[in-house]
Amino acid sequence: MAAVQPWWSGTVIYQLIVRSYADGNGDGIGDFKGLSGRLPYLRWLGVKTLWLTPVYPSPLRDGGYDITDFTGIHPDLGDLASFHRFLTAAHGQGMRVILDLVLNHTSDLHPWFQRARWAPKDSPERNVYVWSDDPQRYSDAPVLFRHFESSNWEWDPVAEQYYLHRFLRHQPDLNYANPWVQETMLEVVDFWLDRGVDGFRLDAVPFLCEEEGTRCEGLPETHAFLKRLRQRVDDHGRDVLLLGEAIQPVQEAAPYLAKDELHGAFNFVLTAHLFAAVASGSTRALGNCLQDAQDVVEGCGWALPLRNHDELWLGDGHLIPQEVIQTIRVGLPQGQGHWLNWGINRRLAPLLNGDPRANRLLHGLLYSLPGMPCLYYGDELGMGDWPGLRDRDPNRTPMAWTPARNGGFSAAPDPLLVLPPITAPGYDYRVLNVEVQKQLPGSLLNWHRRMLICRRLLPALQSGSFRLLSCAHPGVIAYVRSTEAMTVLVAGNFTAAGAAVGLDLSDWQGQRTREVMWGCEFPIAHDDWYVYLQPYGFNWWLIGEVEVEGSETSSQPPKATAGEPSV
Ligand code: GLC
Ligand code: CA
Repeated sequence: MAAVQPWWSGTVIYQLIVRSYADGNGDGIGDFKGLSGRLPYLRWLGVKTLWLTPVYPSPLRDGGYDITDFTGIHPDLGDLASFHRFLTAAHGQGMRVILDLVLNHTSDLHPWFQRARWAPKDSPERNVYVWSDDPQRYSDAPVLFRHFESSNWEWDPVAEQYYLHRFLRHQPDLNYANPWVQETMLEVVDFWLDRGVDGFRLDAVPFLCEEEGTRCEGLPETHAFLKRLRQRVDDHGRDVLLLGEAIQPVQEAAPYLAKDELHGAFNFVLTAHLFAAVASGSTRALGNCLQDAQDVVEGCGWALPLRNHDELWLGDGHLIPQEVIQTIRVGLPQGQGHWLNWGINRRLAPLLNGDPRANRLLHGLLYSLPGMPCLYYGDELGMGDWPGLRDRDPNRTPMAWTPARNGGFSAAPDPLLVLPPITAPGYDYRVLNVEVQKQLPGSLLNWHRRMLICRRLLPALQSGSFRLLSCAHPGVIAYVRSTEAMTVLVAGNFTAAGAAVGLDLSDWQGQRTREVMWGCEFPIAHDDWYVYLQPYGFNWWLIGEVEVEGSETSSQPPKATAGEPSV
């Protein structure tokens, strides 16, 4: 009998920012009341896991990744009671919820930091953070936020010492060499697990510990703490997802995935290669990257994002050729600026020049790969961004729900809104919103929903094995996903021209092939099987005599029917 899979195996993760999602009390800021009201939409869409960016009290100088209380809820969003109501409702709708947890640092306004700076040098209180008399300490550790900081150290006039901050100067690093810090952060994890959350997206995991003469990334002490964390989580006796953020090459991110460490990590290298393949029309590097990603410890998996709340990472000049990066930048609407820290600060749709074909192609791959596909709120609509806003705010504007004022996000007067809703030509919320797209059968939103239904109906796409097929066309990628019961073939064309490709399906010689989405019959499988793919076209095919339960795949696209929740 096959082993029971944990709930997160193959799950589709929907990332959202509560304060930008839906405003339930009319103050211009999204909150848990508003989000709870949108759960029927999320269920309708078919996502199974919600990842909330930080929800804790914070001065919000880094989108909430600057925390002042790890066991509270930011008053703008509600309180522990409204969080509890939301969580219960999400569970009731069959969804899981993971919280973003920032282990590496706090806000400088956190009481621990205020206490530390006034406490005597070398006292237990001071040692909750990392201090030095010499700002040359750990000088091999690179500055991460290069557009905002020039050093990892900041002088504190009260403490009369420098403190370490791998991120912004108002985010002092916690000192993981101090047992109190380790134990206290484990208690934070207990706190939220006791309240029923299903897991954590662990922010910036490589940077927890420091050691002279190293880049201070992924040190053995850091892994040792993450193993303690895993043990602590396992002690709760239920499946909890620990998903690490390590923006690094696959070989450096992979060690976090271990039976006794994290269950998942983001595959940002894949993200970079997907964009590079669209820009270059070549899939060779993408194919190698997909192959590399298969080498993962049993019981662990990659989370697969296209975009998120940060800039798009394309590697530090080693991963993606400079001319390909340049092609992406030159193609962007409003010129080629938008470079921030380590990547391009734009949302998915503008990065693809508003081309829905490329959007479908990338998601068509993402939804058919092993791992946990991640959908960033608004990308199911092809929502735009607002270049020129501060820091990464261009990618964090309110969700577009309806053509009404503020896109139905909030009833508050415009100046009170958390961020402006998108009105840019081509992306205006009056046209591009959930309500309108729900009614248009050919919309991107209905397409995403249909793809997610197909993924749910085809276990091969969630948990099947992966095998790359060789294909002579340099712009086409092809692979199969198989379980004992079914095989699904996927092919995608990353070029702006049509592609006729021959695939060797001799392993399935004589078997029936059917396109998944509409059930259209294709020629019988054989050693020289030909298909035509439109520019940026892709397709999923079922191979063999497979009965798909609840066969929504053989008829018309799913429609919003009477009785279904409206937006
Ligand atoms: C992570 C977050 C980013 C944040 C940083 C510092 O990279 O994704 O938004 O600014 O950590 O916490
Ligand atoms: Ca509100």
